[in-house]
Amino acid sequence: MKQIATAILGATGYTGAELIRLIDAHPAMRIAHLGAHSQAGKLVAEVLPGISGAVSQMQLAAADTPLPAEVELVFTALPHGAAAESVKSALDAGCRVVDLSADFRHQDAVTYRAAYGVEHPYPELFEQAVFGLSEWARDVITGTKLVANPGCYPTCTLLPLLPLLRAGVLDTSHIIVDAKSGTSGAGRSAKTELLYCDANEGVRAYGLPRHRHAWEMEEWAAAYTGQNIHVNFVPHILPMTRGMLATLHLRGSAPQDWHALLAEAYAGEPFVRVLPQGSLPSTKGVSGSNRCDIGIAVTGPESAVVISCIDNLLKGASGQALQNANIMLGLDETLGLSAQAVWP
Ligand SMILES: NC(=O)c1ccc[n+]([C@@H]2O[C@H](COP(=O)([O-])OP(=O)(O)OC[C@H]3O[C@@H](n4cnc5c(N)ncnc54)[C@H](OP(=O)(O)O)[C@@H]3O)[C@@H](O)[C@H]2O)c1
Repeated sequence: MKQIATAILGATGYTGAELIRLIDAHPAMRIAHLGAHSQAGKLVAEVLPGISGAVSQMQLAAADTPLPAEVELVFTALPHGAAAESVKSALDAGCRVVDLSADFRHQDAVTYRAAYGVEHPYPELFEQAVFGLSEWARDVITGTKLVANPGCYPTCTLLPLLPLLRAGVLDTSHIIVDAKSGTSGAGRSAKTELLYCDANEGVRAYGLPRHRHAWEMEEWAAAYTGQNIHVNFVPHILPMTRGMLATLHLRGSAPQDWHALLAEAYAGEPFVRVLPQGSLPSTKGVSGSNRCDIGIAVTGPESAVVISCIDNLLKGASGQALQNANIMLGLDETLGLSAQAVWP
């Protein structure tokens, strides 16, 4: 099988390291370039002790190093703001790009500014970017050169929400999303509130009154289903390394039928599993896999809670990014992503 020369920019962060792990084992891709920022110049092995073999002896290139001419596919696993510059250079060099940051997740620069509080440096690129919630966007991902990989909370929320919105069964004025993430969701850079003593044995909400992912959820819910919603979204950080759980408190008509709607929407999907009635998902059940597990409990004649779990670094970031790259390149979308969850 031909191996596509691939670059990972931001290779030393949590999502970048996860991409190295996945792509190093991918039958149709090979790692040709790894970019970093403060760690540039070092060997991979010096920064990521869990990586071995030939890739561990690669040198991390500085962020402004031109991409080698052989590179056809680029993953940008960089902070938002910094990513846009690298995406532009990679597109100019003729590469296909999957951007894990938020820089191209919105449809225009106005929403980007509202959510992120900064001007976008390349607003003209919004036109060619497609939002890569894989199961809902295969047709547009196939024909694009730039995939904006969704955020972890939007992925965990939209996958269970969209089939119900599309069916028109929800009260769109009452959508409460109570979500929890492990600390890897905040990235590897040092932050006081993520020090062991600050984070361990505690839980806290953050990002209120309106976390930036609320814009992403509302925008793409409307784009995919035509339903305008307001999401009351409350994220929490938990003292675990990886994992994300979203509890959607929903009201609407005939909630006893919602399980069937979800099961039908995702029948045959390799990475979305609607659990049998009575079963609820857990972060342990998806950890290390690219899967989203969904469960539902009917709580009243017009209400239910729908619970969804992903590994924030896989279906919430690098796993879905690789799924999108596979789709974009016309490969089997499960290539390199068949690992079951790590348990216990
Ligand atoms: N973590 C998650 O669960 C998650 C989920 C979905 C999406 N994302 C998004 O994915 C992106 C990467 O997240 P992450 O968690 O992997 O972050 P991270 O662990 O903080 O890693 C950031 C990476 O970017 C590099 N970098 C930092 N500042 C830079 C700059 N100014 N210019 C160029 N490179 C720079 C770092 O290099 P050095 O180490 O060499 O300094 C590092 O490789 C972010 O946009 C994030 O929002 C993350």
